[in-house]
Amino acid sequence: MNKDFLALSDWTLDDLEAILALTRELKEKQKEGTPHKLLEGQTLGMIFEKSSTRTRVSFEVGMFQLGGHALFLHSGTTQMGRGEPIKDTARVMARYCDGIIIRTYSHQAVEEFAELCYVPVINGLTDLYHPCQVMADLFTVSEHRENLRDLTYCWVGDGNNMANSWINAATVFGFELRVATPKGYEPDSAVVARAQQAGAQLILTNDPREAASGADVLNTDVWASMGQEQEQQERAQAFSGFQINSELLKAAAADALVMHCLPAHRGEEITDDVIEGPNSIIFDEAENRLHVQKAILATLMTR
Ligand code: CP
Ligand code: NVA
Repeated sequence: MNKDFLALSDWTLDDLEAILALTRELKEKQKEGTPHKLLEGQTLGMIFEKSSTRTRVSFEVGMFQLGGHALFLHSGTTQMGRGEPIKDTARVMARYCDGIIIRTYSHQAVEEFAELCYVPVINGLTDLYHPCQVMADLFTVSEHRENLRDLTYCWVGDGNNMANSWINAATVFGFELRVATPKGYEPDSAVVARAQQAGAQLILTNDPREAASGADVLNTDVWASMGQEQEQQERAQAFSGFQINSELLKAAAADALVMHCLPAHRGEEITDDVIEGPNSIIFDEAENRLHVQKAILATLMTR
């Protein structure tokens, strides 16, 4: 079994399904108040070079519930902010901690670090991927639908880290994924090529209506990700029409599930009424970050 959790494409279907099954078990235990201290005495080092609410809090609370401890280090308050390279910081942290989660820009930097590091490394978001979030998304869908593989998934908006991870998920799980982006904002071409070579049911389009037509799950994310703030204005123009709103929702299946990893820019990529509406499972999706990540931590770190 893989010791790091950097990309969904590094994992087999059986392994990812085992993580979802363990998530179900741990969520039940947590809800009924049954202790599940699988990582007693272990410490998770958390290295963040970008902002976070959900990822930081859910990993920290998750480690506590598993009987361990989490240590949060942000670039702004550590030597990283003064130029110490992440690969040095992370290598030092690995000598104190039993596992490391990193949120940063370069995916390659995380891969390089994981090569050097002898404790498990988890990707808490890079510019390329956000695998923990997509596992939480899949788990949330599984709470509403019997079989993840029989559904049609639609991504509307930016071909960003979330879209790339969804493409990997479509490849491993074997479901149909339609990705609608404006021209020039398509998902990573190497990720797409690998998925196509592996026979993924992946449809890329520039037409959100076509992508949403009859879909069981509609998913989106901000138009400008962390690190792209200066492109916000030009992106707002390019992405107009790529909004999940009540009109687009009408094109999907009547009981379509609406998802968003949050934080959302209400009125841009998604409207307020859809976030708060009956099709939205967005806040369960956020909660499930906790349960899924506990399963990932336990899978990687149990001795
Ligand atoms: N969805 C997500 O990763 O949220 P944060 O940026 O708040 O961690
Ligand atoms: N695509 C977004 C996801 C935030 C959770 C970003 O990278 O900023």
